[in-house]
Amino acid sequence: MKFFLDTANLDEIRQAAALGVLDGITTNPTLVAKEKRPFREHILEICEIVKNGVVNAEVVSTDTEGMVREGRELASWHPNIVVKVPMTPDGVRAMNVLTREGIRINVTLVFSPTQALIVAKAGAYFVSPFLGRLDDIAQDGLQLVREILQIYRAYNFETQVLAASLRHPIHVVEVAKMGAHIGTMPFKVFEQLFKHPLTDRGLEAFLKDWEKAREVLGDITEPATARKVGR
Ligand code: G3P
Repeated sequence: MKFFLDTANLDEIRQAAALGVLDGITTNPTLVAKEKRPFREHILEICEIVKNGVVNAEVVSTDTEGMVREGRELASWHPNIVVKVPMTPDGVRAMNVLTREGIRINVTLVFSPTQALIVAKAGAYFVSPFLGRLDDIAQDGLQLVREILQIYRAYNFETQVLAASLRHPIHVVEVAKMGAHIGTMPFKVFEQLFKHPLTDRGLEAFLKDWEKAREVLGDITEPATARKVGR
């Protein structure tokens, strides 16, 4: 499963990129607005940081014509940009035009299997079901991803399932088990994926034991001949 970070924050993106397991970025108007910088400049800086990873940037028009205009513009900024359009009839119409021009589309704000079916039939590159927001209203977000994958597999649709609005590591584990193509998550969740208390405790014990025998063990980076072994 590919890991995308759901953020427009450059520090977070830099930290995640340095770990070497980051495959892309998803942004939305809310996330971009938080950064208070010119949109184009900001998105291009994100593209620079993630290098070969895709960067999802969203249109803000709600009519087909406006979305097509903005989608073309966004896609012209960098080859790694995927254009996000909302799951509305206008969004689907805009996708129809843009995909025919070779522009990759991520359909966002997907909350039902029927919406996901339309998205795949219309030829989207990514479909973004929002798990956490369904959980928020006491509906099962994971079940939605399960159903979308089942439908897509039944018809060999090429649209990739980008599980979005992931709120905690269990969401990540569950969508990975189902075989979702991508999980996008906030930086906080991404950091949590690395952590386990037994890793910390184990490392602490290893280092304590090493320290106790340090004089005999020497230094890993020191040539053997230069080691003082207490003789
Ligand atoms: O980028 C879209 C999506 O992941 C939003 O997540 O946490 O605002 O529901 P959230």
